[in-house]
Amino acid sequence: MTEKIPLLIDTDPGVDDALALLMAFNDTAHEVVGLTVAAGNVGLGRTVRNALKLCEVAGRSDVPVYAGCPGPLLHPSPDAADVHGRDGFGDVGYAPAAHGTQAEHAALAILRLSHVHAGRLLLVTLGPLTNLALALKLDPTLPHRVARLVVMGGAVSAHGNLTPAAEFNVAFDPEAAHLVFDAFPTFDVVDWEATLAHGLPHASVEQWLAAPSPRAAFYEQISRQTRLWSADRRGDHWHSADALAMALALHPEGASSLAERPLAVELAGILTRGATVTDWNRQTGRPDNARLLLAYDRRRFEALVQAALAAT
Ligand code: BDR
Ligand code: CA
Repeated sequence: MTEKIPLLIDTDPGVDDALALLMAFNDTAHEVVGLTVAAGNVGLGRTVRNALKLCEVAGRSDVPVYAGCPGPLLHPSPDAADVHGRDGFGDVGYAPAAHGTQAEHAALAILRLSHVHAGRLLLVTLGPLTNLALALKLDPTLPHRVARLVVMGGAVSAHGNLTPAAEFNVAFDPEAAHLVFDAFPTFDVVDWEATLAHGLPHASVEQWLAAPSPRAAFYEQISRQTRLWSADRRGDHWHSADALAMALALHPEGASSLAERPLAVELAGILTRGATVTDWNRQTGRPDNARLLLAYDRRRFEALVQAALAAT
């Protein structure tokens, strides 16, 4: 049997993060070696609590959870509690997980695990890039040891969600995203625009959530508020950015269209701070650093989500 691919996930749970984590736990070719947790969708105390709870619900309390940075590197930023609930998990009042976090800081855990799994590590970021940027500052050789980096973030033609031009994960901590995009020679990007192009039909999601599994039951509760919000604003399809990123991370062969281009972050704009600027015409002469997901096999994506929810 081939060895499993070690998978380290940096995340700010978050309702869509939770679905991505269930997909990762359900994958037989990958071993989740840790969750490093960022502030983002809600404050760090809550994202950590949510990460621990999700592990417990999935029967994976053995997966180490590392708390990271409590806020962006430089400038404070608003959270996304309006989408995910004040507690980030739909305000359903769940009982906290029985276990706790590791003592090690998330940035240090990223570095240590990059040595333990040097050359094999799949690193997936589902939140603001603060922890990874800090790890890079501590040790700029980190990218040499990461086999593949997959980032959920950005809006490749500047159709943002947090602002008209900028997507949440990048706009929450633009300096961190800049450091990461500059340091990694290549990385995969699943942006907000790809997310909008790969909506999950609400009617199907509701069926999948009725599966007789504790994972589906928990996810039905924590996602209810944001699904209603989404149906009200965005119509028949529900958009799960982090789940799409995890689909690409776990099954890259599902991608049917990708584009490689230089990608940079706007740090100074008044209207566009946190926007990702894609050099579509290769005018800057900079190397292509980002592999942008443009299209992914819808059936495969839906099947992965359904299987993750039904898993027991
Ligand atoms: C991203 O922002 C967060 O609110 C989601 O969890 C996702 O990671 C989408 O822009
Ligand atoms: Ca997220």
